[in-house]
Amino acid sequence: MSQFVPLETSIFDRDFTLDPYPFLQPLYEQEDILGFSSEGMNFLFRFEDCHDLIAAHKNVAREPVSVDEEEAKLFAEKYPGRAWSYKYSLTNIKAKVLLNRFLVQVIDRMSMDEIVRSLSMFKEAGRHDQYMDEINLLPMRILLTAWGFEYTEPELAKHFNDSVAMVKSFEAFDNEELFELGEKGRSDCISYVFDQFNNATPGTLLHDFAVASREAGFDDNYSVASLVTFMQSTANTLSVSTAFMMRNMLRFPQFTGQLRANPQLINNNIVMEFLRRDNHVKALSRQVHNPFTLRGRQLEVGESLFIMYPGVNMDPTHWNAPLELDLRRVFTPDNHNIFGGSRYACIGSRIALEYFACMLPIMLESLSENAYVVEEEIEVDGEWIAERVITKLPIIVP
Ligand code: HEM
Repeated sequence: MSQFVPLETSIFDRDFTLDPYPFLQPLYEQEDILGFSSEGMNFLFRFEDCHDLIAAHKNVAREPVSVDEEEAKLFAEKYPGRAWSYKYSLTNIKAKVLLNRFLVQVIDRMSMDEIVRSLSMFKEAGRHDQYMDEINLLPMRILLTAWGFEYTEPELAKHFNDSVAMVKSFEAFDNEELFELGEKGRSDCISYVFDQFNNATPGTLLHDFAVASREAGFDDNYSVASLVTFMQSTANTLSVSTAFMMRNMLRFPQFTGQLRANPQLINNNIVMEFLRRDNHVKALSRQVHNPFTLRGRQLEVGESLFIMYPGVNMDPTHWNAPLELDLRRVFTPDNHNIFGGSRYACIGSRIALEYFACMLPIMLESLSENAYVVEEEIEVDGEWIAERVITKLPIIVP
């Protein structure tokens, strides 16, 4: 038996994106396989294997095994924004710690009024399917405002599109068109953040962050790169995941009924349960740097593997009734990998949990209990692997 058996469909297939479990279920039962293959890539999908792989960051890392100096130079000339980001973004642990200190303050300054305003459209009966742009801009609007960034409406829309261009080009090493769009967006974002960082208005968090990072002796490049990562990640995560969250909410009326009846039950644990059932993160790659044994099989140096997150989050050998949303499910730091872990653990997990914990009661209040998604008309965008993007989620409010 090969270590990786072919997936019955393409990893990009809309049906697989929206409901991977029926495809994965027979594979979980095949204990002698390591994973599945699709579109020329190999995927691990079991909780235990991915957990071990994530923990073994000295043997299996996101970075390529070896980078030829000449190749790196050519890459930096062709993609200066990316090369700059790789050099400065989240590479200085102390700068990362400082950023985290400020992220906590960002949470305290988030105003949810915009969410209430945007979601009020669902109070009207009828079919809603033209709201995605509005919902997508919300997280950036809320978080950039909390930092004290200045922006115009067209700029906000551009930042969102630039960020999504970046996420589409993750892992898309041989798709030059996507890579160039992502590069252009990243370079524009870097210029914008440098400008804001250098001209921050006193009294804003951004100004305090600039002062604190200079006092701590950090080169501005590190501080700006952290903010660029933060800014682009906001759109790539919170915006893109909101559609998955809304679908989850409307798909499980019994579960949401309990929350409607007792909104005080909504906490970070409930948000985790929603994110476990489905979210935007689909598959992220790792390269084998040192020989590594998994499920009794030796992985060789230079091998490339993907962690398939929905597989991990719904592994029936790890989760009881994985397709169900369960109020009683308890998450501990070590029993899930929803936010990754080890060296690449998510820097935005706290913000994500707070954001959705604030958004959920507003969503429940705005969407009547018999609203539903027209499942067969959901549209999913393109052929990119790291995250999948729902572009249309028709909702009927009777
Ligand atoms: C829906 C919520 C979110 C989920 C499910 C999520 C999930 C993840 C996962 C699985 C990883 C690990 C990547 C890997 O192992 O290669 C990760 C990393 C990361 N996340 Fe999140 N994330 C979320 C929200 C956010 C937010 C709100 C931000 C920032 C605004 C963010 C920024 C990042 C960054 C920068 C990394 C890379 C960290 C590093 O390499 O040091 N994420 N996230």
